[in-house]
Parts: sequence; structure tokens; C-alpha cells
Amino acid sequence: MNTLRIVGLSGSLREKSYNTSLLRAAKHYGVQHGLEIEIADIGLLPLFNQDDEQSVPAHVGALKEKIEKADGVLFVTPEYNYSIPGVLKNAIDWATRPYGKNSLNGKPAGIMSVSMGSLGGARAQYHLRQILVGPNMYVMNHPEVMVAAAHEKFSEAGELIDESTQKKVKEFLVAFAEWVRKFEK
Ligand SMILES: Cc1cc2nc3c(=O)[nH]c(=O)nc-3n(C[C@H](O)[C@H](O)[C@H](O)COP(=O)(O)O)c2cc1C
Repeated sequence: MNTLRIVGLSGSLREKSYNTSLLRAAKHYGVQHGLEIEIADIGLLPLFNQDDEQSVPAHVGALKEKIEKADGVLFVTPEYNYSIPGVLKNAIDWATRPYGKNSLNGKPAGIMSVSMGSLGGARAQYHLRQILVGPNMYVMNHPEVMVAAAHEKFSEAGELIDESTQKKVKEFLVAFAEWVRKFEK
């Protein structure tokens, strides 16, 4: 079977981000499930300004091109005030513009979330699902990965050390690969 190309977006710019750590774990495990996950750095994007959307800044153009060439997008996001971080919304807004050039249009997507709280970013995850209706993404429903109490699941070095979470992420990736294949042209 051919390898599926996935763009991975983390909603946290923090150097020791648990979400980026989970995305790195997914990238690592993804290989054995036919997924080649490229992590895109959304921290390089300027704040969205509609004045610039017709001739987009270089980092925006590069992100849009990566997404357009990819078979799917994997979002891994923290929860900020019951929603997704502004940096992730900023990336989504850039990716959808200008009108008629929505790079996310019709792409399959997966969402995982990590939080230090007890709900694992569930509220942010559901908010992201709502947001992705606008760009016309097809988000996989199940299985859901919401990693709670993140500080107990990762090592100092950012390795995912919790076995039950490792298992859930692997199950997620198997299902995600199947989901993305359904949209192959
Ligand atoms: C501005 C801000 C708002 C936050 N709001 C929430 C929240 O609503 N729910 C929650 O579970 N955690 C919240 N947190 C805590 C995050 O879960 C925690 O900082 C987490 O480690 C962020 O993910 P990261 O490690 O990938 O950066 C918030 C953190 C910040 C900085």
C-alpha cells in the first residue's frame, strides 16, 4: 500500500509542549501504519491580515502548498480557555484564504488533544470540530484521543511514556490511515 502524506499541526508553540510531543509520537508510530507525518511549524506564520491574502507571506504559501499536496491533516491541540489556541485558528484562517483557494477544502482530518486538566482538552476538540465545518474538512469521529493529566504521561524529555496512551494513539493512527484512504483520488 502507498504511504499517505499527512501534515501535522500542533496548537502549541511551547518548546516542551505536550501536544507537540504527542504529535512527535504519532509521527514515530505512524510510519508502521503507512502514514508519513510532516510536522509544520505554525509559529512562523504572521498574524492573519486580509490585506495580505492575495499575495501571501512566504511561510503561509509554504504551509498552503504542504497541505494541498498532503492526503490529510492531523491536528493536535491544547485547550486554551475552553477553545483552541489563537495560533491554531490563525493557521486555519490563513490556510482557507483567499476566497476560492481554501487549501483545507475536502481534506480528511484527525484531531487529538492533550491537557494538564482532567478532560484532556475535550472542549477544545469539539470546538475545533465545529471550526472545521467552515473549511469543509472531513474529521474522523472515532476513536477519540483526549490525553488528560499530561504531566503524568510524558517524560521530561517529551517522550510519551504512558502505555495506555501509547495504545490509544496507535489505535487512532490505524483508524486514521483507513479514514484518509477513503478519500484517496
Ligand atoms: C492561556 C491558557 C489557557 C488554558 N486554558 C485551559 C483550559 O481551558 N482547559 C484546560 O484543560 N487546560 C487549559 N490550560 C492548561 C493547558 O492544558 C496546559 O498549559 C497544557 O500543557 C498546554 O499544552 P502544551 O503542553 O501542548 O503547551 C490553559 C493554558 C493556557 C496557557
